[in-house]
Amino acid sequence: MKNIFEPFIKILSLLVGLLVGVTALTGLLLALVVFLFTGGTLPELQSGKEMPAVVQAVAEVYRGVVPKEGMWKAPDWSKVDEEPNADAIKYGRELIANTSEYLGPNGKVKKLSNGMNCQNCHLNAGTAPLGNNYAAVASTYPKVRARSGQSEDIPKRINDCFERSLNGKALDVNSKEMIAMVAYMEWLGKDVPKGETPKGAGIYEVPFLDRAADPVRGKVVYAQQCQSCHMEDGQGMMKPDKTAYVYPPLWGEHSYNDGAGLFRMSRFAGYVKTNMPLGATFERPLLSDEEAWDVAAYINSMERPKKDISKDWPDISKKPIDHPFGPFSDEFSEEQHKFGPFKPIKAAREVIASK
Ligand code: HEC
Ligand code: HEC
Repeated sequence: MKNIFEPFIKILSLLVGLLVGVTALTGLLLALVVFLFTGGTLPELQSGKEMPAVVQAVAEVYRGVVPKEGMWKAPDWSKVDEEPNADAIKYGRELIANTSEYLGPNGKVKKLSNGMNCQNCHLNAGTAPLGNNYAAVASTYPKVRARSGQSEDIPKRINDCFERSLNGKALDVNSKEMIAMVAYMEWLGKDVPKGETPKGAGIYEVPFLDRAADPVRGKVVYAQQCQSCHMEDGQGMMKPDKTAYVYPPLWGEHSYNDGAGLFRMSRFAGYVKTNMPLGATFERPLLSDEEAWDVAAYINSMERPKKDISKDWPDISKKPIDHPFGPFSDEFSEEQHKFGPFKPIKAAREVIASK
C-alpha cells in the first residue's frame, strides 16, 4: 500500500530546500554588499569571531597585488624621542613632507628645487608600503649604482632626487638639512638588517604587457581617473599660499625632469598601480595593469624639463630595459625601450646573460 504522507513529505522537503537556498543567497548578497561598502577590509569581521561560514568565505577574497603578510612597517613614530638625535630625525621628516616650504622656489632655508615635496612621490614621508618608501635606504647604501657607475651614499642618492625628481640643485652634503634627512632615513631603516631589502620596499613591479604601452589609451585613463586632481593640463593645483601643491604637477616646467626615476615607464606604472588615484594601495589597487602602463605612456609623452644625462650609464649594457635613451647594447629602438613591448628585450638580455 502507498504511504499517504509521501506527497506531503515531498512538498515539505522541497519547501525546506527552498528556504535554505534563499537564506544562503541572501546571506551571500548581504556579505557582498558589506564587503563592497567597506572597500574590502571588513575589520571587525576579519577577526573571525562568530562569523557565518558564508561571510567568512567572502571576506577571504583579497584583491591586493601582493600578500600583506610580512610587509615592512616603519618604526613607531611616537617613540622617536627615545633617540639621541631625535631633533635631527624630526627635522628630516619635516623636510621630506614639506620640502618646498624650506627648499622650494620660495624656500625659507634655500631656494634650490621646484615646488614639489619629496612626499609627493615618497608617500607618508617615505613610510607607505609600496609607496616608494625608504625601507631599504639605510640597509643598502652606500652601493654602486649603474646609473652613475659610482658608489653612492645616502646624501648622493638624495641629491639625485633633488637634481632630477625635483629638477633642482644639489643640497650641500654638510648642511643641517642633509644631515637631518639622512638621520630620518637611518631611523626608518634601523630594524632592517644590513644588506636586506624588506618586503614592500620601494615600488611595485607591474607585470609586462604583451604589447607596447599606449599613450592614446592612456589619455582616456587620465581623463577619467587623474584629471580631477592633477588637472587637464597636468599642472596640478597649488595651495592658496603657494608654499606647496595640493595636487602636484605631472608634466611641464614644474614637474620632474627626463633624468628622473618616474620618467622610466616601469617606475611610473609601479608607482601609480599601488598609489593612484589617491587612496589606492597595494591591498586595494584601482587601476588595471594595462591602465597603469598606458597612463604612464601618456604622461611621459608630455613636455618636461630636460637634464644633461650624457654621463649616465657609463656601461650602456647596464641600462634598464625601460631606459628610453640610446645608445643601447642591443638592437631594440629607443621607442621600444620607452614604451615596450618589454618582454622581447628581456628575453634577448637573458640569452646574452646565459652565454
Ligand atoms: C617626482 C617624484 C619624486 C620626488 C619628488 C622625489 N623622489 Fe626620490 N625617488 C623617486 C623614484 C621614482 C625613485 C626610484 C625608486 C626605484 O627605482 O625603486 C626615488 C628614489 C629615492 C631614493 C632611493 C631609494 C632606494 O631605496 O634606493 C631616495 C633616498 C630618495 N628617492 C630620496 C628623495 C628625497 C630626499 C626627495 C626630496 C628631496 C625625493 N626623493 C623626491 C621619485 C621621487
Ligand atoms: C583625488 C586626487 C588624485 C587623483 C584622482 C589622482 N592623484 Fe595623483 N596625486 C594626488 C596627490 C595629493 C599626490 C601627492 C601625494 C602626497 O603628497 O601625499 C599625487 C601624486 C602623484 C604622483 C607623484 C607626484 C608627481 O606629481 O609626479 C604621480 C605620478 C601621480 N599622482 C599620478 C597620478 C595618476 C596617473 C592618476 C590617475 C590614474 C592620479 N595621480 C590620480 C592626488 C590625486
